[in-house]
Amino acid sequence: MAETKKTATLSIDGKSYDMPVLTPTAGPEVIDIRKLYAQADVFTYDPGFTSTAACDSSITYIDGDLGELLYRGYPIEQLADKSHHLEVCYLLLYGELPDAAQMRDFENRVTRHTMVHEQMHNFFRGFRRDSHPMATMVGVVGAMSAFYHDSLDINDPWQREVAAIRMIAKLPTIAAMAYKYSIGQPFVYPKNSLSYAGNFLHMCFAVPCEDYVVRPELERAMDRIMMLHADHEQNASTSTVRLAGSSGANPFACIAAGIACLWGPAHGGANQACLEMLREIGSVENIPEAIRRAKDKNDPYRLMGFGHRVYKNFDPRAKVMKESADEVLDLLGVHDNPLLQVAKELERIALEDPYFIEKKLYPNVDFYSGIILEAMGFPTSMFTPIFALSRTVGWISQWKEMIGDPQQKIGRPRQLYVGPTRRDYLDVEAR
Ligand code: SDX
Repeated sequence: MAETKKTATLSIDGKSYDMPVLTPTAGPEVIDIRKLYAQADVFTYDPGFTSTAACDSSITYIDGDLGELLYRGYPIEQLADKSHHLEVCYLLLYGELPDAAQMRDFENRVTRHTMVHEQMHNFFRGFRRDSHPMATMVGVVGAMSAFYHDSLDINDPWQREVAAIRMIAKLPTIAAMAYKYSIGQPFVYPKNSLSYAGNFLHMCFAVPCEDYVVRPELERAMDRIMMLHADHEQNASTSTVRLAGSSGANPFACIAAGIACLWGPAHGGANQACLEMLREIGSVENIPEAIRRAKDKNDPYRLMGFGHRVYKNFDPRAKVMKESADEVLDLLGVHDNPLLQVAKELERIALEDPYFIEKKLYPNVDFYSGIILEAMGFPTSMFTPIFALSRTVGWISQWKEMIGDPQQKIGRPRQLYVGPTRRDYLDVEAR
């Protein structure tokens, strides 16, 4: 727990209440209000958690003003350049970069959990073919708790470890199965000789009738996208996983809850919404109208892939993604991709517009990712499932951190009640 060097004093109705101020290793100091209600009989009010720390954590740190993102202290730019997704999974789960032997062992454990129980294939057949793959993933991941009974006991550290490995290993398989099912193609089994990212591409794009060769550049781009999405402090879906886990729910149910939350267009669904927005804008000539609408308070239209609760500077992931988009499109010979041209011009115009400058709205992780994924052959409906499979390690690491915290208790927020005060029942004749 963070140390206390000073106190904050709150005065209400002539009475003062001292609260300890906790000192972080990075970021703002935190006023510990845990005893406030007992002492002062008042709640604090912060519906969007804009000023509220829901937990302490050692996993990921964001400096929104600097546009800095650290996984266990390592800058995302360095990891995106030098690391790979499974190594980042190890780092997020265990707190340190692995040595060669630890990496081999971890990779072996994940690789040998990539298949799903054969009977789970039946779940997919219960969905309409045109179901959104996120609907399928929520259902199938939640159903994992009906199969993997030997990794449900959250109080057993070994079962927690097995559940974590199973989730990291099987989410790409489930996402690929959701995609194959949606296009009426047969499921493709994992291939243990391939890398984590290569295996996902293979399970999505291979067909039984011919060999599929994973292109190393696309494998690298896929792996980088996974790393960039791996974790991000207490975002909405991670907070959902923590809240579900705080009740003692099994890890598969908690991750299914995270997937459901991520689906929203304000969160992980923004990558799909952003590409659909760019397609709707269509050409640079239509950008001024889009900007006008985004600024119009009476118009719910927003620039998808823009803005962020924490980043008030460039999202560092968006910078890496933008470089990757140029590389992948060049590699695929898609030089004058109209969507990329619209995205770059939209970014340029928005960043010079006083509205966006004043509100500190910058491109976020979702602004360029869809352009890369579409160029790689994924339909927009697969963008958020890819975000989900990439974020699984972050969700599971945060869940493990919470479950392993001896101070952990069920999350149960209070409210500002504004409804009717006590009143007696009226018979219908008297109403
Ligand atoms: C992710 O939390 C995370 O870390 C999430 C994430 C992760 O890795 O887990 O980073 C992933 O979810 C990225 C965000 C993806 N969402 C989008 O791109 C959707 C579009 N963006 C917005 O809806 C919005 O910016 C949010 C939801 C991302 C953040 O919203 P906030 O922090 O609640 O801010 P807000 O809605 O109060 O906006 C502040 C102001 C408002 O204007 P005023 O009411 O003050 O006049 O900025 C405006 C908003 O209208 N605004 C936008 C805008 N985003 C905010 N105006 C136009 N276009 C936008 N995109």
